Amino acid sequence: MRRVGTFEHPRVDLSGRVAVVTGGSGGMGLEACRALAEMGARVILGARHDKSREAACQAILKDHPTAAVEHAALDLADLASVRTFADEVLARIGDTRVHIFLQNAGLWPKKYARSAQGHEITFATNVLGHFALTRYLMPRLGPWETAPGTQEGAPQTTRVVVVTGDIYHQTDSCTPDFEWQGDPACVGSRPQRPTCGTPLETVRVPD
Ligand SMILES: NC(=O)c1ccc[n+]([C@@H]2O[C@H](COP(=O)([O-])OP(=O)(O)OC[C@H]3O[C@@H](n4cnc5c(N)ncnc54)[C@H](OP(=O)(O)O)[C@@H]3O)[C@@H](O)[C@H]2O)c1
Repeated sequence: MRRVGTFEHPRVDLSGRVAVVTGGSGGMGLEACRALAEMGARVILGARHDKSREAACQAILKDHPTAAVEHAALDLADLASVRTFADEVLARIGDTRVHIFLQNAGLWPKKYARSAQGHEITFATNVLGHFALTRYLMPRLGPWETAPGTQEGAPQTTRVVVVTGDIYHQTDSCTPDFEWQGDPACVGSRPQRPTCGTPLETVRVPD
């Protein structure tokens, strides 16, 4: 076991594997990128801000100079940006598969806002953006041939991980009304119902 911050993770050889991580420039996403890169994966991280993406890559490279970590612009709250990011990823990896797809980016807004396409910002970012990105990356998701030397029991299809929270437990009900604006007197309750969409968005990649 290797220690990363206060967490331990098993040492797995991810050489030759491609990992796409949304929100990889900060928080848990950055730590996930660091761990994946340390284990040998080629990591492509997406986030909105150029400087934080570059800083994240440099921070990982500082600790692991041979890491294969790169970044591309991604705003999950703008479906045009999602398309551009997906095209960029597909162009960069060519015939390779996306072996690990970590849907990590998410937000907890303090006030009601809408996305570029006019959807509630939490639902747009956490759910719609990831759903669209999954669809765009679908040609490179799914099963692959076992490479010589693959560890016994190693997964042979894309591992899609959806990061969410348990805040939906605090809402009074969970309905398909993801555009719900909540009680104006209780700002904190507003994102809870849209957040319910994250578990619903989880997809099963065909195998
Ligand atoms: N931290 C908690 O206590 C907690 C609790 C429950 C659930 N979660 C969930 O865990 C995940 C990670 O949380 P965190 O606290 O580590 O996040 P964080 O520190 O706030 O980092 C968020 C990351 O997502 C990116 N991001 C934000 N909006 C984006 C957008 N529209 N498009 C693309 N990237 C975007 C940010 O970069 P840019 O700003 O540059 O885009 C950043 O890299 C989230 O899904 C969150 O909902 C966290």
